[in-house]
Amino acid sequence: MTASVEAARVILRDNDRGGYTVPTAGLYPYQWNWDAAFIAMGWITFDEPRAWREIDRLLEGQWADGMVPHVIFHQPNDTYFPGPAVWRTRHQPATTGITQPALLATAARKCWQVAGDRALAEDRVSAIYPKLLAWHRWWVSARDPEGRGLVGILHPWESGMDNSPAWDAAFARVSPTPTTPIRRTDTGHVDAAMRPSDDFYKRVIALIDLYASLDWDPPRLWQKTPFKVADLAVNAILHRANRDLLALAERFGSAADRTEITERLAVTAAGIDRLWNDRAGIYFPFDLISREPIEVAISAGFLPVWAGVADAARVKAMAATLERWRTKVSYLVPSTSPEDPRFEPKRYWRGPAWAMFNMLIGEGFAESGASDIAARIKSDTADLIAKAGFHEYFDPVTGDGCGGGHFSFTASTALSWGLLGE
Ligand code: DGY
Repeated sequence: MTASVEAARVILRDNDRGGYTVPTAGLYPYQWNWDAAFIAMGWITFDEPRAWREIDRLLEGQWADGMVPHVIFHQPNDTYFPGPAVWRTRHQPATTGITQPALLATAARKCWQVAGDRALAEDRVSAIYPKLLAWHRWWVSARDPEGRGLVGILHPWESGMDNSPAWDAAFARVSPTPTTPIRRTDTGHVDAAMRPSDDFYKRVIALIDLYASLDWDPPRLWQKTPFKVADLAVNAILHRANRDLLALAERFGSAADRTEITERLAVTAAGIDRLWNDRAGIYFPFDLISREPIEVAISAGFLPVWAGVADAARVKAMAATLERWRTKVSYLVPSTSPEDPRFEPKRYWRGPAWAMFNMLIGEGFAESGASDIAARIKSDTADLIAKAGFHEYFDPVTGDGCGGGHFSFTASTALSWGLLGE
């Protein structure tokens, strides 16, 4: 099918399961957290009530402590592992026990800005705003209890960049000895060469077993976990989301909320600032257990530009880094540096380019005035979709579509970023 606006809309309609949109049938049959944020930004371009419904349905899964889970298991399904019986969270509706990058406030603000039905938008954001604030407060209390200005993730899936080589060393501390038997379904849907390894899955499930044994209690998880890193996708997206939440707080919040968010922004800007590496021309994540930088260049290292915390010299240095990467691949932005020996162009988060991630990086450079690299990222993304279709991710060397097809956040990105003709 040609990559047109109508083709992208068809994907969202096909993947609609009654107010929430699955990323793609079979491989991911539930509602995912950051997918829902990208997807709402897609729906808002042609069906405003449906965009607000996507956000409401995600927030049905919010926990009493404010956490918004990474997956909401709205309906039973047997095409996915690990399902609710593995997570054992006892939450209703059933959910996983971890979270994902906090893009939702940014999506809510974007939808609020562009919505034509002002009465509906006001009504929905006034209901959503306190829930977003509760989630952002959870990040501070549960994931930055020592007040570093950087939140920690306790599971690689929380980064959104699941099997990134950036987590290899930290994840090696997790013993590959789960008590839950592994019953992978993903490799029945997608070529195993494009998915994480079996060893990765053993550790992923072992961490879930550990956290279930701790009853998903945030302080105990924080204390007992063998995996704790400050990831740049999570920290930069949360910083940007706090800026967007602050804008919503002007209309829907109190003066005290605005002071709280403003103070947190100052603390997190300083936290992200410490992750800059001048020699590499990119930000590096940080291992909160070894207390050392993780010197692996991944696409998340460019996201501080989107967060708005990188000064002009750093924006220029990151643009130069990307120009150098572009000499080794045909399409930006590979998720791992193509200069890194661990770069694998077809394997999930170890090398492929992701359209929705490109939108964040591209918008960041555009907003910072680095228009050449911003335009390059945007045209590369449009070319990938035109060549291969709405895939989950793309080989940045050949342009081949990889992972799941008919993919909701790729279609949504194409709609909201204006990559398509009618
Ligand atoms: C997976 O690969 O199943 C993870 O849940 C992604 O978030």
